[in-house]
Amino acid sequence: MRHLIDIRDLTHEEILSLLDLADDIMAHPDSYRERCRYKKLATLFFEPSTRTRLSFEAAMMELGGNVLGFSEAASSSASKGESVADTVRVVGCYADIIAMRHPKEGAPLAAAMHSTVPIINAGDGGHNHPTQTLTDLMTIRRERGSLENFTIGLCGDLKFGRTVHSLIAALTRCKGVKFVCISPDELRLPGYVKQDLLSRSGCGYTEARDLAEVLPELDVLYMTRVQRERFFNEEDYLRLKDCYILTPEKLAGAKDSLAILHPLPRVNEIDTAIDSDKRACYFRQALCGKFVRMALILKLLEEAGK
Ligand code: NCD
Repeated sequence: MRHLIDIRDLTHEEILSLLDLADDIMAHPDSYRERCRYKKLATLFFEPSTRTRLSFEAAMMELGGNVLGFSEAASSSASKGESVADTVRVVGCYADIIAMRHPKEGAPLAAAMHSTVPIINAGDGGHNHPTQTLTDLMTIRRERGSLENFTIGLCGDLKFGRTVHSLIAALTRCKGVKFVCISPDELRLPGYVKQDLLSRSGCGYTEARDLAEVLPELDVLYMTRVQRERFFNEEDYLRLKDCYILTPEKLAGAKDSLAILHPLPRVNEIDTAIDSDKRACYFRQALCGKFVRMALILKLLEEAGK
């Protein structure tokens, strides 16, 4: 049974062919309208979500399939003490594929070990978020024309930001990508991401504290929200929450071809005055999320023989 728990569960070639498929679905949506007729996707969200859950559901609906599930742990049997292993064993009797988000790192992996249907990790704690990465890669490739030879600035909460960890894992397999990791000292990348992913891959990376100082050298800027729900105390969050705010003044020093991404939700990190700048890609990015999830659902169902 093929699952998607970590972005590295897919080879680089598989990722590229998923992106090709997603582009094709975007260009010819009518050709895919019946592809998942009579199939069901279950969305098991033990943690809040807007884009990820709704884009998964819209993706399945646009493929002609149906969706069922829950959007908070309180409305599932987890609130009665059921384990994720038991939940997915049961849901596998009702659905053909499962997208799961959980506040505990590793929960979707544990679920996959007991599931008879494909499990997609839709975000596990501060760890991984592979389908956001597929979304980010599709966006970068559409904006730049390729996934090679560019400098990306990852800015904000690099410690708890799971989207950043998965994106680094994918981009270290692309040729000529340089990383600039911009964060306050307290929110730097975890050691395992630096050692296992960046250092081991031999990709060039630097760490910085000042966004304005490094902005002129970037081709892609990936802004992130400070992850309030993962802090141990509110005081630290309040001190760090507005550490980076991208304003039109700061952007004045950036390249004309810069692509600004953000997985969203945004709090204060990007001034809304930037939304109308052609370099702001984050709403186009949210749209890519639906098409790339359509491609992924098709691939995993096909491999499961469904
Ligand atoms: C991200 C997440 O859930 O990790 N959101 C998303 O899926 N688009 C980023 C975030 O919550 O800050």
